[in-house]
Amino acid sequence: MSDARLELLYSRDRIAQEVNRLAQQIGRDYSERQVLLVVVLKGSLIFGADLLRALPIKASVDFVRLASYGSETHSSGIVEFRYHLETPIRDRDVIIVEDIVDSGYTLTSLYNKLLNQNPHTLRICTLIDKRARREVEIEADYVGITMEDGFIVGYGMDHDERYRQLPDIYLVKS
Ligand code: PRP
Ligand code: MN
Ligand code: MG
Repeated sequence: MSDARLELLYSRDRIAQEVNRLAQQIGRDYSERQVLLVVVLKGSLIFGADLLRALPIKASVDFVRLASYGSETHSSGIVEFRYHLETPIRDRDVIIVEDIVDSGYTLTSLYNKLLNQNPHTLRICTLIDKRARREVEIEADYVGITMEDGFIVGYGMDHDERYRQLPDIYLVKS
């Protein structure tokens, strides 16, 4: 798929390398325990699947669906919960799996909501940490790639529902 507005930023090889590194790191931190990955749809569907397969420990998976961007390239600040967890997380070791942290609104609202349900531990794993536009203070415990500003797509991430299928990550040129 070629598109003149897209510029390759992170290759599938680079992504795979980071996913494996994160999986090993989580495996060491949670050895002998069974983690629950909470994958934030839709953006994290591919990262979540790859991370789950790379984990060297027992794991289960559940999903939430949050959205705040719509067709814009900046967060509306209003995070919509479109569907919820099926798994009770009380006393579980929970890791939230996000494709990208940008303003921080999405993660903050989810983190606080899950914390209220008294998990044993609650951590955050994000493939991309975009620090330049953070509006709410929130730090991921596991970070794949830290980037500067710029709107990215591919590997699950969209612009107005396009480009999620691209295996590499691209910068959208304005
Ligand atoms: C995107 C992305 C993260 C969130 C990060 O989701 O997948 O979940 O925004 O941005 P934030 O830190 O500014 O909140 P989006 O709302 O586009 O929904 P989607 O995952 O279905 O694409
Ligand atoms: Mn998302
Ligand atoms: Mg989106």
